[in-house]
Amino acid sequence: MAKVGFIGMGNMGSAILKGLLKKGTYGPQDLLFTAAHREKMEQVTVETGVPHASSNRECAESSQYLILAVKPQYFDEVFDDIREGLRPGQIVVSLAPGLTIKSLRERMGGQVRVVRAMPNTPALLGEGMTGVAYEAEAYSEEEKAEIREIFTSCGKAELVEERQMDAVGCVSGCSPAFVYMFIEALADSGVKYGLPRKTAYEMAAQTVLGSAKMVLETGKHPGQLKDEVCSPGGTTIAGVSALEEWGLRNAVIKAADASYEKSQKIK
Ligand SMILES: NC(=O)c1ccc[n+]([C@@H]2O[C@H](COP(=O)([O-])OP(=O)(O)OC[C@H]3O[C@@H](n4cnc5c(N)ncnc54)[C@H](OP(=O)(O)O)[C@@H]3O)[C@@H](O)[C@H]2O)c1
Repeated sequence: MAKVGFIGMGNMGSAILKGLLKKGTYGPQDLLFTAAHREKMEQVTVETGVPHASSNRECAESSQYLILAVKPQYFDEVFDDIREGLRPGQIVVSLAPGLTIKSLRERMGGQVRVVRAMPNTPALLGEGMTGVAYEAEAYSEEEKAEIREIFTSCGKAELVEERQMDAVGCVSGCSPAFVYMFIEALADSGVKYGLPRKTAYEMAAQTVLGSAKMVLETGKHPGQLKDEVCSPGGTTIAGVSALEEWGLRNAVIKAADASYEKSQKIK
């Protein structure tokens, strides 16, 4: 029996699987997966040493924790495959936005326990951020520790209430895309004023990485860190003032509004 099985080996499934292997918490023989295409499964097995199951049902039957890493529009197809193979009380982890624990449990026949997790793709490098929600009374302390271990193996994990999961989606699930856009724009500005493209991307990305570490490791409020960079009458406050004028914060909050509303509509 594998410790963790994945149905789906796309962006998120492979990020978590490779993150788990990189951290060394689990070895290839502790993991199992399926994908839609045989060539994809063979390629991942060759690359990682992780065996693939011959069917979704076999993957479900042979895994202690089963992670659903397919897009939600394929859930019905996958549930039809695995429903008969699921054990009563088996723990199934959904990475999908919007879909509730209650509705997923019912769609899988009512006997499983469902964990909702909202990770992000930096899990691939062991730098993911995952919000996790479950009905705490249904899990042993050992199971809670193992669920935590799966997600802390590929980054940080926070237990949240289920009603907060769509907010987690805005701040961690979707937001790598927002941050990449910021990095791209920052690098474009460097290129505009004469930096080579490669140097501009490296500088922009390292600055975002370093600034994020300053927030996490100093414990200082981001506003205080911003103030510390702004000399009176200097170049940085001139840029900060322009960002306010052009609505950076408003644009970010509007992006979160759009993601939140979209996940509220997924049923
Ligand atoms: N991408 C993100 O940044 C992100 C962040 C947070 C949460 N999520 C959630 O994570 C889940 C997976 O998203 P994703 O971005 O990883 O999707 P994806 O890149 O499109 O990958 C989907 C995977 O599902 C496989 N698949 C499709 N139909 C299948 C079936 N019937 N049986 C078995 N495997 C099947 C595909 O196989 P092939 O590879 O063979 O085509 C593919 O490996 C979704 O619920 C998504 O909302 C994603």
